[in-house]
Amino acid sequence: MSAHKTLKLIGFVSIAISLSFGALFASAQEKFGFGKPAHPDEIARYNSDIHTDGSGLPDGSGDVALGAEIYEYQCALCHGEELEGVPEMGANSLHEGRRDIKKLPYASSLFDFIRRAMPLTDPGTLSNDETYGLVAFLLNETGVIKDDNLTLDAKSLAAIKMPNRQNFIIDPASRFTAEDLQ
Ligand code: HEC
Repeated sequence: MSAHKTLKLIGFVSIAISLSFGALFASAQEKFGFGKPAHPDEIARYNSDIHTDGSGLPDGSGDVALGAEIYEYQCALCHGEELEGVPEMGANSLHEGRRDIKKLPYASSLFDFIRRAMPLTDPGTLSNDETYGLVAFLLNETGVIKDDNLTLDAKSLAAIKMPNRQNFIIDPASRFTAEDLQ
């Protein structure tokens, strides 16, 4: 078969596959009564792009006291009163071992992860202020920034240098350079 004909065939097959997938989803929705188009609010909950330099961090601010309160009601169940982790809930310590948050290279990643994925039972429900408060609380508790009055917002969070940042090794095959770790 000529290259041209092969390409045409591949084109037809992929169109056929996409059409049948479309039909499958449409009928699943009608037949079984599950599945619905995502609401823009639902998409907005996860559609955030927070970068290591802090760009994309949202408005708002929160302090250690706010974070401590949220932590007690929404996080301690799995992460423990003292951040020690509750193995029965699948959570390791947040202040020692491989989940130690001191080991993270960027505080902005901590913000992004918490707002996107925690609490595990209801991700995406924390407000920006609550998330800033939780990051402030966790950094204070783990001794990264010892300050009971720490208040964080986009600017102050982006300025934090995590203590372990220089210990990451650049994969020579990646597009990053040593300057990206500054
Ligand atoms: C229902 C249990 C549960 C609740 C509630 C919960 N988490 Fe988690 N969290 C987990 C599990 C499980 C992991 C995966 C951690 C592991 O492998 O040890 C995790 C991971 C994390 C991590 C990543 C740690 C790392 O370095 O990889 C952070 C930070 C975190 N949770 C913060 C929170 C905060 C803040 C709250 C409250 C708003 C919260 N979690 C509520 C279960 C929970």
